[in-house]
Amino acid sequence: MENLALKPNDRVLLLGGTGFIGSRLISELSGRNIRLRLLVRNPSKVDDSIRKNRDIEIVKGDLVRGEGLKEAACGIHTAYYLVHSMGGKSMFRNSEFARMDKDAAENFITSADEAGIKRVIYLGGLGETGEGLSEHLRSRTEVAEILSSGKPYTTVLRAAIIIGAGGASFVMLKYLVERLPVMICPKWIDTRIQPIAVKDVLAYLTGCLLNQETAGKTYDIGGPEVLTYREMMQQYTEAVGIPRRIIFRAPVLSPRLAAYWVDLVTPIPSGIAHPLIEGLKNEVICLDDTITKDIPIERTPFKEAVKIAVSEKMK
Ligand SMILES: NC(=O)c1ccc[n+]([C@@H]2O[C@H](COP(=O)([O-])OP(=O)(O)OC[C@H]3O[C@@H](n4cnc5c(N)ncnc54)[C@H](OP(=O)(O)O)[C@@H]3O)[C@@H](O)[C@H]2O)c1
Repeated sequence: MENLALKPNDRVLLLGGTGFIGSRLISELSGRNIRLRLLVRNPSKVDDSIRKNRDIEIVKGDLVRGEGLKEAACGIHTAYYLVHSMGGKSMFRNSEFARMDKDAAENFITSADEAGIKRVIYLGGLGETGEGLSEHLRSRTEVAEILSSGKPYTTVLRAAIIIGAGGASFVMLKYLVERLPVMICPKWIDTRIQPIAVKDVLAYLTGCLLNQETAGKTYDIGGPEVLTYREMMQQYTEAVGIPRRIIFRAPVLSPRLAAYWVDLVTPIPSGIAHPLIEGLKNEVICLDDTITKDIPIERTPFKEAVKIAVSEKMK
């Protein structure tokens, strides 16, 4: 394999810099003096301190429309792909997200090939493959395949729910548990999941950039515990010091109905809640632990991750 090590003058492109993960990764990387360029749809969404930082270049563009990509990709060593299109206010408008994510990934990888980008690091979703996978998780896998089909060496990190202030899945968990002493949940309440703290995700994302041996590999990343959603909710109550919740398992409760319920009780609109809730039927646990050898870190226990997240200002 060619030498893929990042040199001091190399520039790194970050896609999704206004998002939950991307905005945190900017601080992490710029704190290590890594030269950054961001491609964002709306530069006014970028924090003032970042806009004023002369070492960080900002390009206005849109991956789905293919705008700004040539300028953004020019001279880049590695690109982080931390983008998804979920987020419409209504479930009906949101049905297009998988097609938009496919277009965005195809537009990006075409530009990456042309510009000679060496590496791509993508954060996608954990989950079994094959039939029965939710549309959201299937779409995340499709993006991984598209990004891996290009000339750059693509590293894929696959995560389940990420615990940190402002993450859509975490906000859903927080509001449901904190607001509802009694819950009626569908049968997914006993599905297993392996949550991960946002600081561990950032450590893995940074570790992949700094360790060229990770180029071209796919890793499952998760925290130290495998929990059911029921256990996760109860451990949340213990972490924040509120009474345990009474949880009934309903024989039938459609993801659509549950999404409207989440829309009502939490700040997450049904357009985001629906694909996420649909994915709760799929077990999302690490099937491979290679990451713990290639990037050894002290993983954060779930309750500690919750304590950190609730003490953080919501982004
Ligand atoms: N959050 C979790 O719990 C979790 C769990 C597992 C995996 N992941 C993965 O982590 C990655 C990042 O997720 P996140 O939670 O940080 O998402 P997020 O907060 O919703 O951020 C998504 C980012 O994508 C950008 N974006 C969307 N469409 C775009 C377009 N057409 N052109 C350019 N930028 C566009 C958004 O920009 P705007 O600000 O302009 O909308 C935003 O910066 C995703 O691949 C997700 O699947 C997240």
